[in-house]
Amino acid sequence: MATQPSAATPTLERIRTRTARVGVIGLGYVGLPLAVEFARAGFDVTGFDVDSSKADQVNAARSYIPDVADADLAACVRAGKLRATADMAALGAMDAIDICVPTPLRKTKDPDLSYVVKAVEGVAATLKRGQLIILESTTYPGTTDEVVRPMLEAKGLEADVDFFLAFSPERVDPGNQQFNTKNIPKIVGGVGPASTEAAAALYGATVLHVVPVSSTRVAEMVKLLENTFRAVNIGLVNEIALMCHTMDIDVWEVIDAAKTKPFGFMPFYPGPGLGGHCIPIDPYYLSWKARQTGFECRFIELAGQINSSMPHFVVDRVAEALNAFRKSINGSRVHIIGVAYKRDVNDMRESPALDVMELLAKRGARLSYSDPYVPTLSHDGRPLASIDLDEAIAAKPDCAVICTDHAVFDYDALVNSGTLVVDTRNALKQRQGPTIFRL
Ligand SMILES: NC(=O)c1ccc[n+]([C@@H]2O[C@H](COP(=O)([O-])OP(=O)(O)OC[C@H]3O[C@@H](n4cnc5c(N)ncnc54)[C@H](O)[C@@H]3O)[C@@H](O)[C@H]2O)c1
Repeated sequence: MATQPSAATPTLERIRTRTARVGVIGLGYVGLPLAVEFARAGFDVTGFDVDSSKADQVNAARSYIPDVADADLAACVRAGKLRATADMAALGAMDAIDICVPTPLRKTKDPDLSYVVKAVEGVAATLKRGQLIILESTTYPGTTDEVVRPMLEAKGLEADVDFFLAFSPERVDPGNQQFNTKNIPKIVGGVGPASTEAAAALYGATVLHVVPVSSTRVAEMVKLLENTFRAVNIGLVNEIALMCHTMDIDVWEVIDAAKTKPFGFMPFYPGPGLGGHCIPIDPYYLSWKARQTGFECRFIELAGQINSSMPHFVVDRVAEALNAFRKSINGSRVHIIGVAYKRDVNDMRESPALDVMELLAKRGARLSYSDPYVPTLSHDGRPLASIDLDEAIAAKPDCAVICTDHAVFDYDALVNSGTLVVDTRNALKQRQGPTIFRL
C-alpha cells in the first residue's frame, strides 16, 4: 500500500469512520439528492445554497426535487445528519466539499463558469489543510486543473499535497425510476493519486460503484462524451424522422422493429427538440474547448442544428393537421399537452415546448396548456396557468399538441373526444385515425 501524504491521512480516516463533515454547494436537481445520499451513508452533511429559500425548505424537511421523497429528506434532517445554510463562511468547517452549481451557456453558446467561480471563491476563502474539494458540475476538460486549482492554490496550499482536488461528473437522470444517485457508477479523477483516492473513498462510502480514472480531464471528458453521444444520436433519429415523413414511413414503427436486434443498435426517439440542463448545453462546452485547440466538432454542430429545428417541424405538422380540416394556425385555439422538458419531471429549462409555443403564437395561435408538474409559466411576457386536461378537452380546442408525455395523462379521453392531435412523442401508440398526426 502506498504511503499517504500526511494531510490525507486524517481526511481518509474521517471518511472511513463516517465522521467526516461533508458540504454540498448548490442544492438543486443534482446537489440535493447527493446531500441526502451522503447523509444516509452516515456523514454529517451541510448543504450550501445562495438561494436561502432552498436552505429553509431543506431545514423544514420539505423537498422541492421530485426525485427526493419528503420522508427521506425528513429522516436525514430529523436525525441531525443534514442541514442547509446560505452562509458560505461555514465551508471552512467541512472535511469534504462537493460543488454542484449550474454551468449554463452564454447567449453566444460559450461556457458560463461564473457560478463555479463564485462557489470556488467561497471555498478558497476558508480553504484548510486536508480538505477534499470535488467539482461535480458538468464542464469542459481542463476546468478543474486550469480554473479551480489555481484559485485554490492561490491560498498558499498545494493541491494533492496539502488539500485534495478531484472532478466527479454527476450522471443522474431526473425522473429515472431505475437509476439514481446511489446506483449510478461514480467516475472520479483527481489532480493526483492522493486526490483520486480521497474522492473515491468518499463516494465509495456513499454509492454502490466507483470508477477511478487517471485525471480530472478524463473525468470531465467522460461526462461530455456521454452527453454528446445522446445529443448526436437524438439528432440522427430526428433527421431519420424528418426523412421518414417525406417518404411516408412511420418512424416509430421503424425504431420499434429495429430495436429487436439484440446487438449493435440502441433505440433513440425523435421528439419536439432537446431540453434540460444537460443535453442541449454540454456538447457546446466540448466544442468550445476543442475550438481552442483548432478542432471543429462537426457532429456536435450538425446535431445541434437538426435538434433545434425540431420545434419548427412540429409547428409545420400543426399547420398541416389544421389545414386538413380547412383551418389555419392563425386564430386557432391550440392546447399544449406537457411543457416540462421530459416525461414526469417539473424541469422547464430549455424545454422545446416553450419554443413550439412561441412559434405557434407568432403564427397567431391562441394557446393554453396542461402540465400537472408546471402550474404556471411565462408566455409572451404574461403568466399562463395550466388547466386540467379534461377541462381543456371539454373546451374543444382546434388542435392539441402532445409535447411531453407525462404518465398521468389520459389519452383515451383525448382520442375519444375526436380532438385533432399532433403527437410528437408517439404517446398515442397504435391509435390511428384522421384526427391523429404523428411527428
Ligand atoms: N439536472 C440534471 O439532470 C443534471 C444531471 C447531471 C449533471 N448536471 C450538472 O450538475 C450541475 C448542477 O445542475 P442542477 O440541475 O442541479 O442545477 P440547479 O439549478 O437545479 O441547482 C443549482 C443550485 O446551485 C445554487 N447556486 C448557484 N450558485 C451558487 C453558489 N455560488 N453558491 C451556492 N449555491 C449556488 C442555485 O441556487 C441552485 O439551487 C450542472 O453543471 C449540470 O450540468 C445536471
